[in-house]
Amino acid sequence: MSGVWAIRPLAPKEKDRVGAVLGLARLHQGDGFYLVAWEGAEPLGHAYLALTQPVELQDVAVREEHRRRGVASALTAAAEREALARGFHRLRVAVSVRNEPAQALYRRCGYVDAGVPPKRVQGTIVLRTGPLEVDDTLVTWEKRLACD
Ligand SMILES: CC(C)(COP(=O)(O)OP(=O)(O)OC[C@H]1O[C@@H](n2cnc3c(N)ncnc32)[C@H](O)[C@@H]1OP(=O)(O)O)[C@@H](O)C(=O)NCCC(=O)NCCS
Repeated sequence: MSGVWAIRPLAPKEKDRVGAVLGLARLHQGDGFYLVAWEGAEPLGHAYLALTQPVELQDVAVREEHRRRGVASALTAAAEREALARGFHRLRVAVSVRNEPAQALYRRCGYVDAGVPPKRVQGTIVLRTGPLEVDDTLVTWEKRLACD
């Protein structure tokens, strides 16, 4: 990790600043919270931790100019700590079969196939950032954070 970084949950007063440069697409989802990586006053990337059963990591995104600096790895590790602190022993993430960078990231972070059948997603999903046409296949990966 380079630079002086901080990762912390998104504060209400930071929504506009972060939303201007990152999607915050799941801001109104209502079942979890965002973690944001900062370098000084600059938001570098974010990740949403959905406190569902099972708990799920969603919307991991790093600004293009800050990629390959370990930001997503650090956000993933922070999400794992948050999940563990809340008593969750496994963390899941759904990844597009076409998203090789994300697959490489999660593999490197210790995630493995959760054994869930791939999920075909098709149609329009409405996010804070607007409607999004999707036609994709998602695979579910999982990491064991502690012994069950
Ligand atoms: C996928 C994404 C989050 C990775 O963010 P990042 O901060 O660049 O990732 P890191 O720097 O932590 O990368 C860690 C490791 O993941 C792998 N990796 C990350 N990006 C990669 C790429 N484009 N190609 C191949 N491997 C990649 C590498 O092993 C990397 O380690 P290395 O740089 O030492 O080789 C980023 O590319 C992104 O925001 N993509 C668009 C949104 C997205 O697809 N999100 C995933 C949703 S599931």
